[in-house]
Amino acid sequence: LKVAASPRISAAPVAAAPRIAALQKDAFEDPWDVRFVTSLMHLPGTIAYVAERDGRDAGYVMARALWGEAEILSIAVAEAARGRGVGAALLGHALAAAAAAGACDVHLEVSVANAAARALYARAGFVESGRRRRYYADGSDALTLRRTLPAA
Ligand SMILES: CC(C)(COP(=O)(O)OP(=O)(O)OC[C@H]1O[C@@H](n2cnc3c(N)ncnc32)[C@H](O)[C@@H]1OP(=O)(O)O)[C@@H](O)C(=O)NCCC(=O)NCCS
Repeated sequence: LKVAASPRISAAPVAAAPRIAALQKDAFEDPWDVRFVTSLMHLPGTIAYVAERDGRDAGYVMARALWGEAEILSIAVAEAARGRGVGAALLGHALAAAAAAGACDVHLEVSVANAAARALYARAGFVESGRRRRYYADGSDALTLRRTLPAA
């Protein structure tokens, strides 16, 4: 009997930057390189988690919480691991860490064309706060989303 393993989520140290960059490369046309991920991880307020399923890297989230506000910088789940709650679990960890760091508001940008990410964020309580016309290289608009966090 094989039971689907739930994801194991752990705070990502700077040394995990190559793992995050590898996951990015599989998920995005224009991925960040290891140096950029590393530099983000050194900035004050950066939050990073990696998810593992069945002993493999299944996804990551990066966020930043500073001065009472947080931003989701990037989130992706490996294609084979999608649709099983890994993204929602990663986002939940990032939101909890942002709240613990004193953030009251969280912001992010998402392409109007990205149905999966929009569903993930809507499910997590994000609401539309604005739109940036033709924000992405493919000409699609970005939606800005926000949600408030409970006081830690
Ligand atoms: C967006 C992404 C991170 C979602 O990760 P995931 O692990 O598949 O998401 P989950 O399984 O946790 O799903 C969370 C919610 O979103 C919904 N959802 C996920 N993928 C969906 C899809 N393709 N279409 C519709 N809804 C979707 C789920 O149904 C779930 O809602 P529910 O609880 O009501 O069922 C993943 O699709 C991904 O990595 N995409 C490529 C990278 C990307 O676009 N990142 C975001 C950039 S802003």
